[in-house]
Amino acid sequence: MDDVNKRIIGGGGLKEDEAIETTLRPKWMHEYIGQDKAKNKLEIFIKAAKQRQEPIDHILLHGPPGLGKTTLAGIIANEMGVNIKITSGPAIERPSDLASILTNLTTGDVLFIDEIHRINRSVEEVLYPAMEDFALDIIVGKGPSARSLRIDLEHFTLIGATTRAGQLSSPLRDRFGVLLNLEIYDQDSLKTIVKRSADILKVRIDDMGAVEIARRSRGTPRIANRLLKRVRDYSEVMGDGYVDHEISKQGLDILEIDELGLDNTDIRIIKTIIENFGGGPVGIDTIAASTGEESITIEDVYEPYLLQIGFLTRTPRGRILTKRAYEHLGYIWRDDENR
Ligand code: ADE
Repeated sequence: MDDVNKRIIGGGGLKEDEAIETTLRPKWMHEYIGQDKAKNKLEIFIKAAKQRQEPIDHILLHGPPGLGKTTLAGIIANEMGVNIKITSGPAIERPSDLASILTNLTTGDVLFIDEIHRINRSVEEVLYPAMEDFALDIIVGKGPSARSLRIDLEHFTLIGATTRAGQLSSPLRDRFGVLLNLEIYDQDSLKTIVKRSADILKVRIDDMGAVEIARRSRGTPRIANRLLKRVRDYSEVMGDGYVDHEISKQGLDILEIDELGLDNTDIRIIKTIIENFGGGPVGIDTIAASTGEESITIEDVYEPYLLQIGFLTRTPRGRILTKRAYEHLGYIWRDDENR
């Protein structure tokens, strides 16, 4: 077992999809590709905390799913030389679950809570004094004889991850010392990630083979790594295991991965806006009602990528589809419509 994995302690941890990816996860900051703004800030905070020999302040990571929030939390713990305990908002059901996690942390340990916006209210209230004063307030007894007992905790670091910081209550958000936004990856960074993963998986791949996978990965390393594995399968069976542009293209076409990585839901959203709302402007709640998706899911999961590839724009009057979106799906774009 390597260092990082040894340090990932406790259950309730990695989701299955993520567990498969463990070998591909970078373990140190210098291996982590892209996200330069977040990385530059973190490097300073880590260095400063180490110089002071103090735990790093609580950190909130926000951004769309699959961008490496868990990976980054693991790197922070590793760079600080501490343990990490991984859990998620919905997994902590009762205040006592959180109390038991917190009392088992030692100084400097990182507690990573994924989907922290889904934590329930009574658990959240235990977090406030824990984050602020490193203490647990426990009520002992009932009625007039009830007393509040304060238990001291070690100075731990909470790293929270959420698809959107706006979904967090402000008392919780305000208790984080560092707020970092992770962005959808550009193609160049994704290409580098694909080449790095290919190296680890011992897949022979050329630049254009990697570019094709990067192009269809919706700006998301988790998807890029998954597509790489499927293209490897295709290449081993239909070719000689070498992934060049042609093999990559053929493999992805057979998998029915759209040329820009769009999935059925993206396509349904785009078609709905074109067919029911003349391309927009249309409000997010109306799109949600017409597609059967939740507004929050559209905003957090689908919209960031559609904005990034220039298919959608946001205006005060609602979302508007662009000419590119029309043409990609084979619709005729009319410039004269009242947008
Ligand atoms: N795997 C997932 N995210 C990554 C990143 N940013 N750099 C390298 N590999 C990754």
